[in-house]
Amino acid sequence: MMKAENEEARAGGADANHANRVVLPDHYAAVYARIYDHLARFYDPFVRSALFIMNGGFGGERRWREDIVDLIDPGPGEHLVDLCSGTGTLTILMAEKLKGYGEITGIEISEAQLRVANRKHLPPGLTFVHGDARHATYPGGHFDKAVICAALHEMPRETRKMVLAEAFRLVRPGGRLVAVEHNIPGEWHKALFINAFEYLTPEYPTYKDLLESGLQNEVEAVGFSTLEVRMTASEYFQMVLAEKPDSCDTSP
Ligand SMILES: C[S@@+](CC[C@H](N)C(=O)[O-])C[C@H]1O[C@@H](n2cnc3c(N)ncnc32)[C@H](O)[C@@H]1O
Repeated sequence: MMKAENEEARAGGADANHANRVVLPDHYAAVYARIYDHLARFYDPFVRSALFIMNGGFGGERRWREDIVDLIDPGPGEHLVDLCSGTGTLTILMAEKLKGYGEITGIEISEAQLRVANRKHLPPGLTFVHGDARHATYPGGHFDKAVICAALHEMPRETRKMVLAEAFRLVRPGGRLVAVEHNIPGEWHKALFINAFEYLTPEYPTYKDLLESGLQNEVEAVGFSTLEVRMTASEYFQMVLAEKPDSCDTSP
């Protein structure tokens, strides 16, 4: 399916061996919705197993997600948005932190992923919405904080820019973004592991392209100012905490 979709795709910067797997922005959303429609029921066990390997055994995923929640630091009364919320594990953890004093919205394009999310125990104040993170149906400045976790590396550069620009539009001036993505760990055997694993997946070209372009650079390119870059999960992931400057006008 991916190859057929991408016959015409020859995105710049992609590894030649994988060029035929690069998804054009116009096709991208439909392709990923379909991929996740097939993978949704395997997604949570897959992430749990991957973080078991990458982050110190049992509880590895939980520790990784708690690091992310620590950085986003949901506070009472805040409105948060989780872009590309998947099966909602992180969204739920953030909602638990709010303890009902605030609102959190997960925006996800795959209905199958959303079904898995909605079958979980949902704390008060949490809503999952079927939508496209490139064009969310909320007014500008509606949210105090946005998070996007492990989704950008599956997107072509142009799409990443649209999603990050949408995050920028959605948060109020002074509001924050936490973007979480792959990182190449300093230890050679860890670097080899993650690169070898990703090489086997259809997301390899966009994964490489994001690493080359730099998560922090892409976050800043849409207008955010970086406050902190922090590593998590034994350096397999990086987290960029950024702020929308106070001086920014919030347009609808
Ligand atoms: C690797 S998963 C990450 C899910 C979740 N953030 C997590 O931490 O587990 C990427 C998710 O992004 C979703 N996605 C991709 N493009 C999207 C878009 N344009 N709008 C909303 N969701 C999107 C996919 O359907 C998938 O569920």
